[in-house]
Amino acid sequence: MPCQWPIFAENQHMSPSDFIPGGPPEVLPESGTLSWQAPSNIALVKYWGKKQGQLPMNPSVSFTLDACATRTEVRYKKVGGASAPPSFEIAFEGRPAPHFRKKIDVFFERILPYQPFLSGYAFEIDTENTFPHSSGIASSASGMAALALCLMDLEHALYPGLDPQYVARKASFLARLGSGSASRSTGGSLVHWGAHGSVPGSSDLFGIDFPLELDPVFRTFQDTILLVDKGQKQVSSTAGHGLMQDHPYAKARFGQGRNRIDGLIPIFREGDLQAFVAMVESEALTLHAMMMTSQPYYILMKPATLQIILRIWEFRRTEGAPVCFTLDAGANVHVLYPASSREKVVPFIADALLPFCEDGQQISDQVGAGPVRLKGD
Ligand code: PMV
Repeated sequence: MPCQWPIFAENQHMSPSDFIPGGPPEVLPESGTLSWQAPSNIALVKYWGKKQGQLPMNPSVSFTLDACATRTEVRYKKVGGASAPPSFEIAFEGRPAPHFRKKIDVFFERILPYQPFLSGYAFEIDTENTFPHSSGIASSASGMAALALCLMDLEHALYPGLDPQYVARKASFLARLGSGSASRSTGGSLVHWGAHGSVPGSSDLFGIDFPLELDPVFRTFQDTILLVDKGQKQVSSTAGHGLMQDHPYAKARFGQGRNRIDGLIPIFREGDLQAFVAMVESEALTLHAMMMTSQPYYILMKPATLQIILRIWEFRRTEGAPVCFTLDAGANVHVLYPASSREKVVPFIADALLPFCEDGQQISDQVGAGPVRLKGD
Protein backbone atom coordinates (compact mmCIF):
# COMPACT_ATOMS: atom_id res chain seq x y z
CA MET A 1 0.00 0.00 0.00
CA PRO A 2 1.58 3.32 -0.97
CA CYS A 3 1.72 5.56 2.06
CA GLN A 4 0.47 9.12 2.20
CA TRP A 5 2.85 11.76 3.48
CA PRO A 6 1.49 14.94 4.93
CA ILE A 7 2.34 18.15 3.13
CA PHE A 8 3.00 20.82 5.74
CA ALA A 9 2.03 24.41 5.38
CA GLU A 10 4.20 27.04 7.06
CA ASN A 11 3.12 27.69 10.64
CA GLN A 12 0.78 24.74 10.67
CA HIS A 13 0.49 23.32 14.16
CA MET A 14 2.03 19.87 14.19
CA SER A 15 1.71 16.98 16.58
CA PRO A 16 4.02 13.99 17.17
CA SER A 17 1.63 11.73 15.23
CA ASP A 18 2.46 13.72 12.09
CA PHE A 19 5.86 12.01 12.24
CA ILE A 20 4.46 8.47 12.15
CA PRO A 21 4.78 6.96 8.67
CA GLY A 22 1.45 6.41 6.98
CA GLY A 23 2.25 2.77 6.12
CA PRO A 24 5.09 0.30 5.72
CA PRO A 25 7.70 0.94 3.02
CA GLU A 26 7.26 -0.91 -0.26
CA VAL A 27 10.76 -2.40 -0.14
CA LEU A 28 13.39 -2.67 2.56
CA PRO A 29 16.92 -2.38 1.19
CA GLU A 30 19.17 -5.30 2.25
CA SER A 31 22.07 -3.27 3.60
CA GLY A 32 23.89 0.01 3.30
CA THR A 33 26.06 2.65 4.93
CA LEU A 34 25.09 6.16 5.99
CA SER A 35 27.30 8.79 7.50
CA TRP A 36 26.84 12.32 8.79
CA GLN A 37 28.83 14.95 10.59
CA ALA A 38 26.71 17.02 12.98
CA PRO A 39 27.86 20.08 14.89
CA SER A 40 27.72 20.90 18.54
CA ASN A 41 25.81 24.06 19.50
CA ILE A 42 25.98 26.70 22.20
CA ALA A 43 22.71 28.11 23.52
CA LEU A 44 22.26 31.87 23.84
CA VAL A 45 18.84 31.50 25.47
CA LYS A 46 19.05 28.31 27.49
CA TYR A 47 16.78 25.28 27.61
CA TRP A 48 16.67 24.23 31.25
CA GLY A 49 13.61 22.33 32.40
CA LYS A 50 11.45 19.99 30.37
CA LYS A 51 8.03 18.37 30.15
CA GLN A 52 7.11 14.76 29.49
CA GLY A 53 8.20 13.72 26.01
CA GLN A 54 11.42 15.75 26.00
CA LEU A 55 9.56 19.00 25.36
CA PRO A 56 11.07 22.27 26.55
CA MET A 57 9.56 24.47 29.26
CA ASN A 58 10.78 27.52 27.37
CA PRO A 59 12.07 28.19 23.87
CA SER A 60 15.81 28.39 23.28
CA VAL A 61 18.14 29.56 20.54
CA SER A 62 21.74 28.59 19.80
CA PHE A 63 24.71 29.25 17.59
CA THR A 64 25.64 26.18 15.59
CA LEU A 65 29.35 25.51 16.01
CA ASP A 66 31.80 24.68 13.27
CA ALA A 67 34.85 22.85 14.65
CA CYS A 68 33.14 20.88 17.42
CA ALA A 69 31.25 18.07 15.76
CA THR A 70 30.51 14.35 15.84
CA ARG A 71 31.00 12.07 12.85
CA THR A 72 28.85 8.98 12.80
CA GLU A 73 28.71 6.08 10.38
CA VAL A 74 25.74 3.73 10.50
CA ARG A 75 25.86 0.39 8.69
CA TYR A 76 22.50 -1.33 8.44
CA LYS A 77 21.59 -4.88 7.51
CA LYS A 78 18.15 -6.37 7.08
CA VAL A 79 17.47 -9.11 9.61
CA GLY A 80 15.12 -12.07 9.20
CA GLY A 81 13.33 -12.00 12.54
CA ALA A 82 12.46 -8.40 13.26
CA SER A 83 13.33 -7.26 16.77
CA ALA A 84 11.84 -4.19 18.37
CA PRO A 85 13.81 -2.15 19.33
CA PRO A 86 16.53 -3.06 16.81
CA SER A 87 19.83 -4.68 17.74
CA PHE A 88 22.98 -2.60 17.41
CA GLU A 89 26.72 -2.49 18.08
CA ILE A 90 28.29 0.81 19.04
CA ALA A 91 31.94 1.86 18.74
CA PHE A 92 33.54 5.15 19.73
CA GLU A 93 36.81 6.11 18.02
CA GLY A 94 37.18 2.58 16.71
CA ARG A 95 36.62 0.75 20.01
CA PRO A 96 33.51 -0.89 21.46
CA ALA A 97 31.71 1.68 23.63
CA PRO A 98 29.42 -0.19 26.05
CA HIS A 99 28.94 3.01 28.10
CA PHE A 100 26.95 4.49 25.19
CA ARG A 101 24.58 1.51 24.99
CA LYS A 102 22.03 2.68 27.55
CA LYS A 103 21.58 6.09 25.92
CA ILE A 104 21.17 4.60 22.46
CA ASP A 105 18.84 1.89 23.77
CA VAL A 106 16.59 4.61 25.18
CA PHE A 107 16.90 6.58 21.95
CA PHE A 108 15.84 3.62 19.77
CA GLU A 109 12.96 2.88 22.11
CA ARG A 110 11.73 6.48 21.90
CA ILE A 111 12.02 6.81 18.12
CA LEU A 112 10.63 3.38 17.22
CA PRO A 113 6.99 4.58 17.05
CA TYR A 114 8.14 7.17 14.47
CA GLN A 115 10.41 4.80 12.53
CA PRO A 116 8.84 1.35 12.98
CA PHE A 117 10.89 -0.02 10.06
CA LEU A 118 14.00 0.13 12.28
CA SER A 119 13.05 -3.15 13.90
CA GLY A 120 13.72 -4.89 10.57
CA TYR A 121 17.40 -3.99 10.77
CA ALA A 122 20.56 -4.60 12.79
CA PHE A 123 22.93 -1.64 13.05
CA GLU A 124 26.64 -1.06 13.49
CA ILE A 125 27.28 2.48 14.69
CA ASP A 126 30.76 4.02 14.58
CA THR A 127 31.14 7.45 16.06
CA GLU A 128 33.94 9.93 16.80
CA ASN A 129 34.22 13.54 17.90
CA THR A 130 36.34 16.22 16.29
CA PHE A 131 37.05 17.68 19.73
CA PRO A 132 39.16 16.02 22.43
CA HIS A 133 37.37 13.12 24.10
CA SER A 134 37.79 14.24 27.70
CA SER A 135 37.30 17.95 27.21
CA GLY A 136 34.19 18.28 29.36
CA ILE A 137 32.34 19.32 26.18
CA ALA A 138 29.02 17.55 25.95
CA SER A 139 28.83 15.46 22.81
CA SER A 140 25.21 14.39 23.28
CA ALA A 141 23.83 17.19 21.06
CA SER A 142 26.17 16.54 18.13
CA GLY A 143 26.13 12.76 18.70
CA MET A 144 22.36 12.40 18.76
CA ALA A 145 21.98 14.78 15.82
CA ALA A 146 24.47 12.80 13.70
CA LEU A 147 22.71 9.52 14.49
CA ALA A 148 19.26 11.00 13.83
CA LEU A 149 20.42 12.36 10.46
CA CYS A 150 21.73 8.92 9.46
CA LEU A 151 18.43 7.26 10.43
CA MET A 152 16.51 9.95 8.59
CA ASP A 153 18.56 9.12 5.47
CA LEU A 154 17.49 5.51 5.86
CA GLU A 155 13.86 6.64 6.08
CA HIS A 156 14.37 8.72 2.98
CA ALA A 157 15.75 5.67 1.17
CA LEU A 158 12.63 3.69 2.16
CA TYR A 159 10.23 6.49 1.29
CA PRO A 160 11.86 8.30 -1.65
CA GLY A 161 9.10 10.87 -2.13
CA LEU A 162 9.50 12.62 1.23
CA ASP A 163 9.10 16.37 1.34
CA PRO A 164 12.52 17.99 2.11
CA GLN A 165 11.00 20.21 4.81
CA TYR A 166 9.49 17.15 6.46
CA VAL A 167 12.89 15.41 6.36
CA ALA A 168 14.61 18.40 8.02
CA ARG A 169 11.95 18.69 10.69
CA LYS A 170 11.86 15.01 11.43
CA ALA A 171 15.68 14.78 11.72
CA SER A 172 15.48 17.45 14.44
CA PHE A 173 12.40 15.78 15.98
CA LEU A 174 14.27 12.46 16.27
CA ALA A 175 17.45 14.11 17.58
CA ARG A 176 15.35 15.83 20.24
CA LEU A 177 14.19 12.47 21.53
CA GLY A 178 17.86 11.58 22.15
CA SER A 179 18.81 14.87 23.80
CA GLY A 180 16.78 18.09 23.87
CA SER A 181 19.56 20.37 22.73
CA ALA A 182 20.34 17.94 19.86
CA SER A 183 17.22 19.29 18.15
CA ARG A 184 19.28 22.45 17.57
CA SER A 185 22.21 20.55 15.99
CA THR A 186 20.53 19.54 12.74
CA GLY A 187 20.51 23.07 11.29
CA GLY A 188 22.91 25.92 10.66
CA SER A 189 24.11 29.27 12.01
CA LEU A 190 21.32 30.05 14.43
CA VAL A 191 18.69 27.50 15.42
CA HIS A 192 15.52 28.14 17.40
CA TRP A 193 13.69 25.39 19.28
CA GLY A 194 10.38 25.83 21.07
CA ALA A 195 6.96 27.22 20.20
CA HIS A 196 6.98 31.01 20.36
CA GLY A 197 4.39 33.38 18.90
CA SER A 198 7.02 35.78 17.54
CA VAL A 199 9.03 33.10 15.70
CA PRO A 200 7.14 31.86 12.61
CA GLY A 201 7.14 28.09 12.16
CA SER A 202 8.55 27.44 15.66
CA SER A 203 7.55 24.28 17.50
CA ASP A 204 8.33 22.43 20.69
CA LEU A 205 8.79 19.31 18.56
CA PHE A 206 11.80 20.34 16.48
CA GLY A 207 14.33 23.08 15.89
CA ILE A 208 14.18 25.43 12.91
CA ASP A 209 16.74 27.72 11.31
CA PHE A 210 16.05 31.13 12.86
CA PRO A 211 13.58 32.52 10.33
CA LEU A 212 13.83 36.26 11.05
CA GLU A 213 16.31 38.90 9.95
CA LEU A 214 19.85 38.31 11.19
CA ASP A 215 22.61 40.90 11.01
CA PRO A 216 25.61 39.35 9.20
CA VAL A 217 27.81 39.96 12.27
CA PHE A 218 26.16 36.93 13.88
CA ARG A 219 26.94 34.58 10.99
CA THR A 220 30.68 34.74 11.66
CA PHE A 221 30.67 35.07 15.44
CA GLN A 222 33.69 33.50 17.14
CA ASP A 223 33.53 31.10 20.08
CA THR A 224 36.75 30.28 21.91
CA ILE A 225 35.99 27.47 24.31
CA LEU A 226 38.16 27.54 27.40
CA LEU A 227 38.58 24.11 28.97
CA VAL A 228 38.51 24.84 32.66
CA ASP A 229 37.46 21.40 33.80
CA LYS A 230 37.80 18.39 31.55
CA GLY A 231 36.30 15.94 34.02
CA GLN A 232 32.87 14.37 34.18
CA LYS A 233 30.15 16.69 35.56
CA GLN A 234 28.99 15.82 39.11
CA VAL A 235 25.36 16.46 38.20
CA SER A 236 24.09 15.38 34.78
CA SER A 237 21.89 17.61 32.61
CA THR A 238 19.09 15.06 32.97
CA ALA A 239 19.18 15.45 36.75
CA GLY A 240 19.43 19.24 36.41
CA HIS A 241 16.35 19.41 34.17
CA GLY A 242 14.51 17.25 36.72
CA LEU A 243 15.34 19.66 39.54
CA MET A 244 13.53 22.43 37.67
CA GLN A 245 10.25 20.62 38.31
CA ASP A 246 9.72 21.82 41.89
CA HIS A 247 12.10 24.73 41.61
CA PRO A 248 10.93 27.83 43.51
CA TYR A 249 11.92 30.14 40.63
CA ALA A 250 10.86 27.87 37.75
CA LYS A 251 7.80 29.83 36.65
CA ALA A 252 9.67 33.14 36.53
CA ARG A 253 12.58 31.52 34.72
CA PHE A 254 10.44 29.95 32.01
CA GLY A 255 8.67 33.28 31.46
CA GLN A 256 12.03 35.03 31.29
CA GLY A 257 13.28 32.53 28.68
CA ARG A 258 10.23 33.26 26.51
CA ASN A 259 10.62 37.04 26.92
CA ARG A 260 14.28 36.85 26.03
CA ILE A 261 13.45 35.41 22.63
CA ASP A 262 11.31 38.52 22.08
CA GLY A 263 14.22 40.65 23.28
CA LEU A 264 16.67 38.93 20.94
CA ILE A 265 14.67 39.47 17.76
CA PRO A 266 15.58 43.19 17.41
CA ILE A 267 19.11 42.48 18.69
CA PHE A 268 19.63 39.95 15.89
CA ARG A 269 18.02 42.23 13.31
CA GLU A 270 19.99 45.33 14.24
CA GLY A 271 23.29 43.70 15.23
CA ASP A 272 23.03 45.39 18.64
CA LEU A 273 26.15 43.92 20.26
CA GLN A 274 25.82 45.78 23.54
CA ALA A 275 22.35 44.37 24.16
CA PHE A 276 23.51 40.96 22.90
CA VAL A 277 26.35 40.83 25.44
CA ALA A 278 24.04 41.78 28.31
CA MET A 279 21.41 39.21 27.38
CA VAL A 280 23.82 36.33 26.72
CA GLU A 281 25.77 36.77 29.95
CA SER A 282 22.63 37.10 32.02
CA GLU A 283 21.30 33.89 30.49
CA ALA A 284 24.47 32.00 31.42
CA LEU A 285 24.38 33.28 34.99
CA THR A 286 20.66 32.57 35.28
CA LEU A 287 21.25 28.96 34.19
CA HIS A 288 23.84 28.53 36.94
CA ALA A 289 21.69 30.43 39.43
CA MET A 290 18.97 27.84 38.81
CA MET A 291 21.48 25.11 39.72
CA MET A 292 22.58 26.95 42.85
CA THR A 293 18.98 27.41 43.97
CA SER A 294 17.79 23.86 43.19
CA GLN A 295 17.03 21.40 45.97
CA PRO A 296 19.53 19.82 46.37
CA TYR A 297 21.67 22.80 45.32
CA TYR A 298 24.93 22.43 43.43
CA ILE A 299 27.63 24.46 41.71
CA LEU A 300 29.20 23.45 38.40
CA MET A 301 31.39 26.55 38.03
CA LYS A 302 34.98 26.30 39.27
CA PRO A 303 37.09 29.11 40.73
CA ALA A 304 38.77 29.46 37.32
CA THR A 305 35.34 29.98 35.68
CA LEU A 306 34.80 33.06 37.85
CA GLN A 307 38.35 34.31 37.31
CA ILE A 308 37.78 34.18 33.56
CA ILE A 309 34.42 35.95 33.82
CA LEU A 310 35.92 38.77 35.92
CA ARG A 311 38.76 39.23 33.44
CA ILE A 312 36.37 39.36 30.50
CA TRP A 313 34.41 42.10 32.31
CA GLU A 314 37.57 44.04 33.02
CA PHE A 315 38.74 43.72 29.40
CA ARG A 316 35.37 44.89 28.13
CA ARG A 317 35.41 47.86 30.49
CA THR A 318 38.91 48.95 29.58
CA GLU A 319 39.01 48.04 25.86
CA GLY A 320 35.36 48.43 24.94
CA ALA A 321 35.44 45.25 22.82
CA PRO A 322 32.06 43.46 22.48
CA VAL A 323 33.34 40.22 23.99
CA CYS A 324 31.19 38.18 26.35
CA PHE A 325 30.93 34.75 27.89
CA THR A 326 28.38 32.03 28.07
CA LEU A 327 28.33 28.73 29.95
CA ASP A 328 26.87 25.31 29.37
CA ALA A 329 25.91 23.05 32.24
CA GLY A 330 29.58 22.85 33.26
CA ALA A 331 32.65 24.85 34.22
CA ASN A 332 34.04 25.53 30.73
CA VAL A 333 33.65 29.05 29.37
CA HIS A 334 32.60 29.97 25.84
CA VAL A 335 34.10 33.35 24.92
CA LEU A 336 31.94 34.95 22.22
CA TYR A 337 33.03 37.88 20.02
CA PRO A 338 32.54 39.17 16.49
CA ALA A 339 35.09 38.14 13.85
CA SER A 340 36.06 41.82 13.48
CA SER A 341 37.33 41.82 17.09
CA ARG A 342 39.62 38.81 16.64
CA GLU A 343 42.83 40.80 16.51
CA LYS A 344 42.11 42.36 19.87
CA VAL A 345 40.48 39.42 21.62
CA VAL A 346 42.71 36.48 20.61
CA PRO A 347 45.87 37.85 22.29
CA PHE A 348 43.81 38.82 25.35
CA ILE A 349 42.55 35.23 25.63
CA ALA A 350 46.07 33.83 25.24
CA ASP A 351 47.60 36.16 27.84
CA ALA A 352 44.86 36.64 30.41
CA LEU A 353 42.50 33.65 30.17
CA LEU A 354 44.44 30.58 29.05
CA PRO A 355 46.42 30.38 32.32
CA PHE A 356 43.12 29.44 34.01
CA CYS A 357 42.48 26.49 31.68
CA GLU A 358 43.33 22.88 32.43
CA ASP A 359 46.61 22.16 30.60
CA GLY A 360 46.19 25.57 28.91
CA GLN A 361 43.62 24.02 26.57
CA GLN A 362 41.19 25.89 24.37
CA ILE A 363 39.18 25.15 21.23
CA SER A 364 38.92 27.92 18.64
CA ASP A 365 35.50 27.66 17.14
CA GLN A 366 33.00 29.85 15.33
CA VAL A 367 29.46 29.84 14.01
CA GLY A 368 29.05 27.01 11.50
CA ALA A 369 26.77 26.19 8.62
CA GLY A 370 25.25 22.96 9.99
CA PRO A 371 25.54 19.22 9.43
CA VAL A 372 27.25 17.62 6.47
CA ARG A 373 26.35 14.32 4.82
CA LEU A 374 29.55 12.27 4.56
CA LYS A 375 28.15 9.18 2.91
CA GLY A 376 24.75 7.92 1.85
CA ASP A 377 23.38 5.28 -0.48
O1 PMV B 1 20.09 18.61 25.85
P1 PMV B 1 20.38 18.47 27.29
O2 PMV B 1 19.32 17.65 27.97
O3 PMV B 1 21.78 17.96 27.52
O4 PMV B 1 20.30 19.92 27.98
C1 PMV B 1 21.17 20.95 27.62
C2 PMV B 1 21.02 22.11 28.50
C3 PMV B 1 22.00 23.25 28.32
O5 PMV B 1 23.10 22.87 27.52
C4 PMV B 1 22.51 23.68 29.66
C5 PMV B 1 21.31 24.45 27.69
C6 PMV B 1 20.98 24.36 26.24
O6 PMV B 1 19.96 24.94 25.86
O7 PMV B 1 21.75 23.76 25.47
